[in-house]
Amino acid sequence: MLSQEEKDLLVSIWESIAPDAEEIGAEALLRMFTCFPKTKTYFAHLDISPGSAHLRTHGKKIIMAVGDGVKNISTLATTLAPLSLLHAYQLMIHPSNFKLLSHCILVTLSCRRPQEFTPVAHGAWDKLLSAVSAVLAEKYR
Ligand code: HEM
Repeated sequence: MLSQEEKDLLVSIWESIAPDAEEIGAEALLRMFTCFPKTKTYFAHLDISPGSAHLRTHGKKIIMAVGDGVKNISTLATTLAPLSLLHAYQLMIHPSNFKLLSHCILVTLSCRRPQEFTPVAHGAWDKLLSAVSAVLAEKYR
């Protein structure tokens, strides 16, 4: 699915964004909550107001998990298996929500790394996020 060129591109962009994982994750979450308010219902137990500590901590966790995906593309299902179980059985996140968060991650990356976010890079991130989402949603009933 991802060409070698796309995989190399993802690894190189990942190295550039990893230090900003917290900011990128917090912005992606804030965009999701703002544009798709129903997603907030899953986070009723957290303070998700703009700039909150929860938003930043959780944002960092999400982006670091995406980074694990970038570094382990060939073993995505096993790498992300614990997160798949968590999102399906414990959190019961409806699969439709993964597209919404993926979209917000893409928008955030394009705003924060405009030079690196070429059409080819956009396509590569979209494929990666779709693959990550498929793994996280696969156990959902
Ligand atoms: C928790 C990653 C999508 C809702 C988590 C955690 C990670 C993560 C790493 C923390 C697990 C832990 O603490 O052990 C991801 C990734 C996603 C994704 C990589 C897709 C790219 C979603 C979506 C929703 C969601 C779409 C709902 C709209 C939650 C909730 C928690 C959680 C409610 C628990 C938060 C808490 O109580 O601290 N996710 N997630 N996730 N996720 Fe996701």
